[in-house]
Amino acid sequence: MTAPLHWAVGDATRIQWTRYRSAGTEVGTPDPERWAPLGFPAPPPDRPWIFGVVVVSANGVVAWRRRDARDDPVREILGDETRLDRRADRRLMRYLRTIGDVGIGAQTVREQPTLILSPQEPGDERAPELYAFRVARGLSHHPRNIIYSLYGRVPPQHPMLTTPGLSTIILTTPAGRAELARRGIRDTAVIVEPLLESGGLARAHTRLRAEHGVRYIACEGGQTLFGALRAARLLDEVFLTTTDVVVDRAAHEGVLTTFDFAAEGATLVAEGRLEPAGVYTFKRWRFGGTRR
Ligand SMILES: NC(=O)c1ccc[n+]([C@@H]2O[C@H](COP(=O)([O-])OP(=O)(O)OC[C@H]3O[C@@H](n4cnc5c(N)ncnc54)[C@H](OP(=O)(O)O)[C@@H]3O)[C@@H](O)[C@H]2O)c1
Repeated sequence: MTAPLHWAVGDATRIQWTRYRSAGTEVGTPDPERWAPLGFPAPPPDRPWIFGVVVVSANGVVAWRRRDARDDPVREILGDETRLDRRADRRLMRYLRTIGDVGIGAQTVREQPTLILSPQEPGDERAPELYAFRVARGLSHHPRNIIYSLYGRVPPQHPMLTTPGLSTIILTTPAGRAELARRGIRDTAVIVEPLLESGGLARAHTRLRAEHGVRYIACEGGQTLFGALRAARLLDEVFLTTTDVVVDRAAHEGVLTTFDFAAEGATLVAEGRLEPAGVYTFKRWRFGGTRR
């Protein structure tokens, strides 16, 4: 018996997508063996298109309050490091960092002290093709790292602020700006808006587009930031990886779970997995009713 063609093509970590509807114009792929090309709509005229990128346990857990530095929800949710599914998820995340710029909540910045939002993080396999793919489309080498912080509690020595060549933009409030200055963070671009007031978060994104030319944001969470973006009708879609790990919710405090996408009226645009033996599911949920 001959295997279906898509089983025979490409690397073992290439996600095989079933597309249920058009996601937008295809952006291409840095390497067709490893990444199927994804499509994105043109961004709205006055703000970036924002897509979430998140991994959840089989029972929908995104994170919990860490007991200490070794208590790492993301690692636990992902499960065994050596699995092809896990590599495929990492590769998808790295590819999604080539689409435009990248956003993150300040709590994740504080809890992940080595995190850099770039297609190749320290310790990753080399990925020159991901950078070449960005540059060929007129983008900078590194995506801009956009940090969301209400109160400016950003660690000044964090690599997002100290890595040569990496540009960071902090979205904050007037109180946050004062705290950033108190911490000696003065050379980083900052957008100051009353982010908790109606329209504040939307205005900050209008300025990201107008003042910095940000057209796409891969927003990597956490759930608190996703909730704020969703409430402001700015979260356009979410790439949701669901693993096979079941988290014992009673064993943790401050458990955060992902959206109930179907109940929120989101549309499943595409669904993927590794063939033939993948155990993660990769879904792409698109919200309606966002700001245009
Ligand atoms: N499973 C996953 O895919 C995934 C993804 C990302 C993160 N995580 C994990 O999730 C945990 C952190 O997530 P989290 O939900 O607690 O925090 P988070 O979303 O990363 O960050 C929350 C912070 O964002 C800022 N913020 C809140 N509302 C805002 C608004 N309306 N506008 C602008 N900024 C706003 C505040 O910063 P200030 O406090 O500075 O004011 C707040 O503390 C970590 O353990 C991390 O490793 C998991």
